[in-house]
Amino acid sequence: MRPDEVAQMFSQIAQRYDRANHILSFQRDRAWRRTLVQQAAPKPGERLLDLCTGTGDVAIEFARACPKLQIVGLDLSEEMLRVAHEKLAQLSLDHRVQLVQGNALELPFAESSFEIVTIAFGLRNLSDRTRGLKEIYRVLSTEGRAFIVEFSLPQSSLVRLVYLPYLRYIVPIVGGMVSGSRAPYEYLRDSIEGFPDRAQILEELYEVGFRPVGYRDLTLGIATLYWGEKE
Ligand SMILES: C[S@@+](CC[C@H](N)C(=O)[O-])C[C@H]1O[C@@H](n2cnc3c(N)ncnc32)[C@H](O)[C@@H]1O
Repeated sequence: MRPDEVAQMFSQIAQRYDRANHILSFQRDRAWRRTLVQQAAPKPGERLLDLCTGTGDVAIEFARACPKLQIVGLDLSEEMLRVAHEKLAQLSLDHRVQLVQGNALELPFAESSFEIVTIAFGLRNLSDRTRGLKEIYRVLSTEGRAFIVEFSLPQSSLVRLVYLPYLRYIVPIVGGMVSGSRAPYEYLRDSIEGFPDRAQILEELYEVGFRPVGYRDLTLGIATLYWGEKE
């Protein structure tokens, strides 16, 4: 899908995106974002870019955890950013996070602009993953850290036995009911099944120049947190 088509799909479901997420993940998405913040271990004064920030949950989690962190959230969808802005204002965190409408494949930032770049459930949606990873690398400062959270297939065949029917049949139905549109959840299912395995993602990070790279499974491997450092 082209970036504008992806953004349009998210704009359609923006108002109900959070609720569908929490229901479909049994609230685990909140814990995954907290783990992301712990793993990133931001320090006061550092600059953080959250790509595909959507409704802003990752940026909000970082703003809460680290008062002196400078945070920019970028997304292509105006509607998702509108929801993010409303949430930040309600939490009185709007002065902490700068929201930018833009394309993760052509970042409007100079080289070495950030110490941390995060992208949660966004890499899967990029039409050119290598280009996205190269852009992350470019805007990171030396020794800067990238963190990616993405859905994955469980490594245990026993867990897959339960998870795959859930992903294939339940997710599109429940996602459609909660969000009012089934197509994005069929896309979610297909893009999770089509996403490369952990070894491939680590290899792609390495190819772009990240050293060292690593990952840890979240909730039985239905999501994975990857990281890489700019040498
Ligand atoms: C599944 S949502 C993830 C939102 C958020 N990070 C979270 O954890 O809930 C994916 C987001 O990526 C955005 N997106 C997709 N392609 C993009 C691109 N090329 N550049 C910027 N944002 C993009 C979509 O608009 C959408 O808001």
